[in-house]
Amino acid sequence: MKFHNRECCFLCWGTSGCPLLIFLFCGIANCRSIQRIKECDITCSQGVQCERKQPDDLFSRFCRDAPESLNPNVLENMKITTVMKCSPASQCSLHLNIIGTVIYDVHIRGVEICSMTLSSQRTQCVTIRFTKIKRKKFLMHKIQVQANTFEVGVSEQVYVTMKTFPDFCGIQLTETYYVEDCNNRDVGKHVWSCLTGKLDYMVNKENKIITVNVSNILQDYDYNVRLCKKHFVCHDIGAHAVIRKENATKSVTLPYSEILPCLCIEGWSAIPDARRTRLCPFKNDISTLWDNIAYNPMKQVLAWVPLCPVNAKVHLCWMTDDKQKCVNIPDSLSAAHNQVSYSQVDTHPRLCMKFATETGYWVKCPFPTGPFSAWDMKTYLMPNSMEIKLTSPTKAKFSVFICNRTNFNSCEPLQKYTLVYVEALETVTLNMSREICGSNICIQGIREDVNYSFPTQICDIPCISQDPESKEDNFLQMIIVTAVQVLSAVIFTYIGYKIFKVCHQKREQKRLLKSQVKEMSEIASSLEQMTLLSTKAEGDR
Ligand SMILES: *[C@@H]1O[C@H](CO)[C@@H](O)[C@H](O)[C@H]1NC(C)=O
Ligand SMILES: *[C@@H]1O[C@H](CO)[C@@H](O)[C@H](O)[C@H]1NC(C)=O
Ligand SMILES: *[C@@H]1O[C@H](CO)[C@@H](O)[C@H](O)[C@H]1NC(C)=O
Repeated sequence: MKFHNRECCFLCWGTSGCPLLIFLFCGIANCRSIQRIKECDITCSQGVQCERKQPDDLFSRFCRDAPESLNPNVLENMKITTVMKCSPASQCSLHLNIIGTVIYDVHIRGVEICSMTLSSQRTQCVTIRFTKIKRKKFLMHKIQVQANTFEVGVSEQVYVTMKTFPDFCGIQLTETYYVEDCNNRDVGKHVWSCLTGKLDYMVNKENKIITVNVSNILQDYDYNVRLCKKHFVCHDIGAHAVIRKENATKSVTLPYSEILPCLCIEGWSAIPDARRTRLCPFKNDISTLWDNIAYNPMKQVLAWVPLCPVNAKVHLCWMTDDKQKCVNIPDSLSAAHNQVSYSQVDTHPRLCMKFATETGYWVKCPFPTGPFSAWDMKTYLMPNSMEIKLTSPTKAKFSVFICNRTNFNSCEPLQKYTLVYVEALETVTLNMSREICGSNICIQGIREDVNYSFPTQICDIPCISQDPESKEDNFLQMIIVTAVQVLSAVIFTYIGYKIFKVCHQKREQKRLLKSQVKEMSEIASSLEQMTLLSTKAEGDR
């Protein structure tokens, strides 16, 4: 590999580690300087005269069988380099310089070289004919033919073929060549299509404008600046301005409606097919992409349309009670291409959309939170059962069942589903047994009349004997019973004492005894009443 560029290479002249240094300092391809040419022409070496022949028309260009005496390697090799042709206005164009080596044979009257640009399919051919060649003198001699008439663009991929003239079948050389791009210093500085301008910008979020300053542009041309939205190509969004070449201030102000990751600034000189320079300053700011969610209540469709192309996985999910986690709803995965839509979605405030990209994930909950926006399931403990109350802002159908929570996400149904129809703004009450109970036993309610539903789950169903409220009751009962017992002890002690006193004091009159008995029976009946009361309280609970 040859290095010509002085700017890059003078550093290492005289040092033994030259190639490595060059590589370190400038990278191989970007340093190569491009040879200048004044004219496009063809030449032949060794004093052989040659001329450019007009190519034959396409139909007569079939190959013919090669004579047996012809060496199949008459075309020895082909070397391709890029050259630059510059006009006085300091604008340069790029050309391929192709040098082919031919071993002369009497059957060969010249060579044909063609280049095809893969991106544009543009084909350029040159036929070089030897004229007045002294056949005997040059037989078996190597002749170099050279042509630099092939105009190419920056960073193009070109397919080059060299054939004999006339065209003998099977004898040809081919090569694929890559033209330098604007990163090559020489090309970047001198080829006009690389002089695309440098853009600097400032965003004014308050007034929603972007001010763009341009530099490094072609002096003799107007310059265009626009804002665009990049999908496959950059689409115009109506913000466009021209900086006139006579303007001293090379700056424009363009309005925008939204900062999006695909919002780009483009600049280009006002010349046909000018290369554009493009800057997409917000491309990492993808958090704005997830806001574009819409719900159509008529069609019951929840849709998200990406405003910029983005690789994202989309799920519907439901938010946990602590709002720390959004649990994916099974079978709701979609990939973001044009749009993602879900039909028949529960409009619950805790039903959300989750977007995952390589850089992170975002959760958006499109349904409003409010006192009457969500359906609800509540449980009330009864002594031997449980009341479940379902309310809904819209007409809905639910299934309610008891399940066994085996892990965070799954709850295995233990019971047949009960279908419940709830009219708008109505409450429906269900009575469920509490025979199955425990900390992992849950009551789950889910909407059945939609495809994607938020599951409500109420767990830790208390067992009949252990529930905290009944403990309280037991405590109260215990107090009442204890009080009754204490009271009866007191009363019986009193009665006992009275009887003892009566027995002891036989002299007491019969009348007195009578009144004592009456008093005793009164107390006993009040005691009976009290016990009844306590049993009743127990029954009410
Ligand atoms: C709930 O699941 C656990 C583990 O899978 C099991 O041991 C337990 O018996 C289940 N409970 C009921 C009431 O089925
Ligand atoms: C609820 O069910 C329990 C037993 O499962 C029963 O004792 C109670 O009477 C029921 N209540 C109503 C209001 O149906
Ligand atoms: C969603 O709902 C529509 C309309 O009710 C139905 O045709 C479709 O099969 C449902 N899809 C799923 C996955 O349940």
